[in-house]
Amino acid sequence: MQKLNLCIIIILVVLTSCSQSGKRHKIGVSQCSEDIWREKQNAELRMGAYLQGDVELRFAAAYDSDERQVQQIDSLVATGIDLLIVAPNQVATISPAIDRAFDKGIPVIVFERKTNSQKFTAFISADNYEMGRVMGEYIASQLHGKGRVVEIMGLEGSSPAIERHNGFADALKNFPNIEVVATLQGDWTEESAVKAVKDYQGDLNNIDFVFGQNDRMAMGARIALGTSTIKYCGIDGLPGEDGGIRLVRDSILDATYIYPTHGDQIVDLAISILEGNPYEKETMMMSALVTRDNAKVLLMESEEIMRQAEQLDSLHKKADSYLHKLDTQRIINWLAISIIALLIVIFVLFYLYHLRKISMQRERVVNTLWNMEPQKASPSPSKGGDVQIDDATQNSVSSGNQTSPLEGTGEASPFLSRFREAVEARLSDSDLSVDDLAADMNLSRVQLYRKVKAITGSSPVELLRTARLNRAYQMLLTTDKSVSEVAYAVGFTAPSYFTKCFKEEYGMVPGDVRK
Ligand code: FRU
Repeated sequence: MQKLNLCIIIILVVLTSCSQSGKRHKIGVSQCSEDIWREKQNAELRMGAYLQGDVELRFAAAYDSDERQVQQIDSLVATGIDLLIVAPNQVATISPAIDRAFDKGIPVIVFERKTNSQKFTAFISADNYEMGRVMGEYIASQLHGKGRVVEIMGLEGSSPAIERHNGFADALKNFPNIEVVATLQGDWTEESAVKAVKDYQGDLNNIDFVFGQNDRMAMGARIALGTSTIKYCGIDGLPGEDGGIRLVRDSILDATYIYPTHGDQIVDLAISILEGNPYEKETMMMSALVTRDNAKVLLMESEEIMRQAEQLDSLHKKADSYLHKLDTQRIINWLAISIIALLIVIFVLFYLYHLRKISMQRERVVNTLWNMEPQKASPSPSKGGDVQIDDATQNSVSSGNQTSPLEGTGEASPFLSRFREAVEARLSDSDLSVDDLAADMNLSRVQLYRKVKAITGSSPVELLRTARLNRAYQMLLTTDKSVSEVAYAVGFTAPSYFTKCFKEEYGMVPGDVRK
């Protein structure tokens, strides 16, 4: 059954972890001190938040300082919490800060220690008066109604100290032969009890029982008074290695009283308030006396609960870190995709720019070599588009200025003129080869190729073909010759191949030139 419960809890945790994108509720937790009792409670508060899901807890610990707790409450409120959970250090000192939070419309749960103000939404605690009373009766019964007792009180001005004392004193009223030898002032810490005992001036001989208002102070008194015949009891009854239940089981303490922490129950109450569900304004948590008779069983049970809570906590941490990794991975993926997309765009732009540059260079060379008329000269380099006039060509021709970048290359111009003449002279010769052109110019085939390619970026064969097509274009515009006649006239042996090349060059079939 316990295993099944654990499985359900684990599934819940994983599911709630998976949906933690933005927290629904932000809850501030102001703890008056920091010790093993508060640690256990904070762990339970966290577990309660995991189980509720979508809850963010913001913790602050005041280490028994009123001033610090007031500041911390104000700061928590300033961070924009939706609800405040507070254990006030003392009854009166923290009230103004709690009132300020409450007046701002923030619901307040006061837990375990009281304030003297009515400005709170709910109060949750165990019955401290009852604990003191039960402890008084227990000690009286152990002493059979007769003996000497010392009480060590918790922090002055804190409500559990006052109430536990009242309960204890009321219980002992029924036992006139029990003498309360001293009521010493501690502050909930072990050291404070050691000091209180050592500083006490009166007679602490023949003491039978010490009632520490918590287990830590009972242990402090034990350190100071020794272990001979005196019995010690306290309150808190925590599980774990240093907890009161083990101390009772091992006969180090005679009894303790479980002071319930129940952090998960406090979170449930907070969520009911925040979500407008019904809730109790005042909740008293159940508790129990721990003696040697039940310590063993209680220890086993509470340690099992603690073990499950630890597993749950570590599971939640794993789920959190997994989600964190997933988020990081997602960001890396997006970055990688963006970089690849950017590189593709840059590559495509560069490629288009390069194509455009080659095509413009080619147009300039052709125009320079064959001196075409503007309106016929520069069909758009894009295949399949309309015939357009290139701006550079138009400017250079209309101004009568035939200068081109090629002509600015010094010796290139006379060479190109010779090349053009050689081509023009034999354009209609379908057998004309690059070898023939090279021979006409007194160059080797390789020399001609290298020179033409270096200056124009095109090979002699490409230029020859462009020259044939340009001539054909002019003939189609200025003569009545048929397409086939034009094809043969510019050195093509097959009109179909001519049409194919013409379309590639000008993006239209030869017949369209006359339309
Ligand atoms: C923990 C503690 C407990 C004690 C309680 C009283 O901070 O000191 O030991 O029972 O507070 O409020």
